[in-house]
Amino acid sequence: MSAETRPTPDPLAETPPTVPVRTAAVIPAAGRGVRLGPGAPKALRALSGTPMLVHAVRAMANSRAVSLVIVVAPPEGVAEVSALLSDYALPERTDFRVVPGGETRQESVRLGLAALPEDVTTVLVHDAARPLVPVDTVDAVVEAVRAGAPAVVPALPLADTVKEVEPVAGGGPEPVVATPVRARLRAVQTPQGFDRAALVRAHETVPVDGEGATDDAGMCETLGLPVVVVPGHAEAFKVTRPLDLVLAEAVLARRRANDGY
Ligand code: CTP
Ligand code: MG
Repeated sequence: MSAETRPTPDPLAETPPTVPVRTAAVIPAAGRGVRLGPGAPKALRALSGTPMLVHAVRAMANSRAVSLVIVVAPPEGVAEVSALLSDYALPERTDFRVVPGGETRQESVRLGLAALPEDVTTVLVHDAARPLVPVDTVDAVVEAVRAGAPAVVPALPLADTVKEVEPVAGGGPEPVVATPVRARLRAVQTPQGFDRAALVRAHETVPVDGEGATDDAGMCETLGLPVVVVPGHAEAFKVTRPLDLVLAEAVLARRRANDGY
């Protein structure tokens, strides 16, 4: 149980009673990583000799607010992932649990949420594929949820202009439908932070359509809940394609050179 507390609003009480605030992180890691190319499931690929998933779990555990990490593993890899996490040291205050995932990210997150103990009030959802998110970004998300926002998303302005097109199969020229104003667009990252009840309600309400939702905050928007954006970080990029591995290795090499990370 976290030692941190927040007051229950009760203006009449002389010493307001407190309810515990406990934050857990759910890490969907059950994807195959098709866009990265053939090989082990993406979360188990090594970065600088350490599995990507271990980097991602440590990134969550590095936040003092996070006392539990739930990893959603490929269904056939639960035992392997549990053994892996036992082999790598985590801060003592952090527990972890491994549960089997589903066919889509949306289902994997739902299965992770189902494994949360009752006392958890704040939930982070963090892609295993974003192994290098700095702890300050994690803390900023947690802080915004604790300040009262039901859904919080770290995000960055876009470098590229974005066009909406009418997709054409087979690689032919695609007609442009619209060009949104770039200054109003944000590329969203994880960890996304939520009031636990709000996120659970979103996952109970929004059906899995096709490949499912890739963005938990978007599911909260569907419910009409307010979602806010806080500054993301360049190092919270998602490892998706082979070039992203090159960037991730470069970031780790720079961290090692700077502070022996
Ligand atoms: N994920 C999951 N369960 C799935 C699909 C995805 O837990 N059925 C997780 C991935 O492991 C990843 C995160 O969701 O940490 C973001 O997904 P993405 O980057 O798309 O990873 P993959 O689905 O593995 O990659 P690809 O789409 O290239 O196959
Ligand atoms: Mg995917």
